[in-house]
Amino acid sequence: MDTALDYARYDRIRPIRWTGTALELLDQRLLPFTVEYVSYQDSDEVAGAIRALAVRGAPAIGIAAAWGVVLAARGVEAADGAAAAVRLAPAMARLEAARPTAVNLAWALARMRRVLEAAGGDWHDVIEAEAHLIEAEDLAANRRMGTLGAGLIAPGSGVLTHCNTGSLATAGFGTALGVIRAGVARGKIGRVFAGETRPWNQGARLTVWELRQDGIDATLVADAAAAHLMKRGDVQWVVVGADRICANGDVANKIGTYQLAIAARYHGVGFMVVAPSSTVDMATASGDLIEIEERDPGELLAAAGQRTVAEGVQAWNPVFDVTPAALVDAIVTEKGIVERPDAARMQALSAR
Ligand code: MRU
Repeated sequence: MDTALDYARYDRIRPIRWTGTALELLDQRLLPFTVEYVSYQDSDEVAGAIRALAVRGAPAIGIAAAWGVVLAARGVEAADGAAAAVRLAPAMARLEAARPTAVNLAWALARMRRVLEAAGGDWHDVIEAEAHLIEAEDLAANRRMGTLGAGLIAPGSGVLTHCNTGSLATAGFGTALGVIRAGVARGKIGRVFAGETRPWNQGARLTVWELRQDGIDATLVADAAAAHLMKRGDVQWVVVGADRICANGDVANKIGTYQLAIAARYHGVGFMVVAPSSTVDMATASGDLIEIEERDPGELLAAAGQRTVAEGVQAWNPVFDVTPAALVDAIVTEKGIVERPDAARMQALSAR
């Protein structure tokens, strides 16, 4: 049960703080050695923070963008929400353009737009309340998914995760990392492995640091070690998050996820995707239609600011990939679990 879990121990980090007058973001570019919140007063600066990965992770960028709308509304005078929506549209479009793949960004902004357009003269209060709600609902969804996902894991299992899907990537607790937290807390998980997640090293810099805050031991592995790890029998579940889940159950997530799913299927290892319903995009029929973000190839050419690749070498840096639904054993959302997802089962989930 949810109540059995000690959230004070297993949910310590908050990447996003609303002070009432400003948005504070834990700068994830500086972790793990510097824990520093940067204060934002301006929505375009929030868009810049999303683009630069100061705040990252699908749910977290949606929440940050919702607060960005509240900041954009500062000083805007309009008789009602519909008039305000027109004034705020350019700032909201700039927030939405910050990153293309995670649907949570567009989802949060659409939700803010919807309540804004329906609001009366108190629209400033209405959008601030909505941003609070988006954040609170995300935390509650994560806790629920933790319970549901941990229920799929047999006692003593080893798990492998990818990227960072924890408190840092969400309002708190995390998606895949929430399942791992709940699984560890309930004695289901014997060992946690985290892939480095090259080139930005979300696993190496963020995930293992985050788990240490909770006293959870995790073993870092090179991304290239995953298949070998599975072959040894050390892992029973790969547990990952998602940036967008399509109407047919295809899953976009951090680059490298697809090859983990292939390796998992080959070795008889379970493949679990954990994401709130805000990540489910029923308007996108399949993964082929998802825009995959490509970032600066320079991320591949240097480590810690030091060039490691010969001058003149070219690189290609797609930062997400799509895992076909056929390779997914379970999608865990706060609305329930979809086993062996396909279009019909995703439709049934979204109708819940
Ligand atoms: O580029 P990032 O670090 O924002 O990518 C994050 C991921 O791919 C996560 O797995 C995903 O957003 C889910 S976070 C709960």
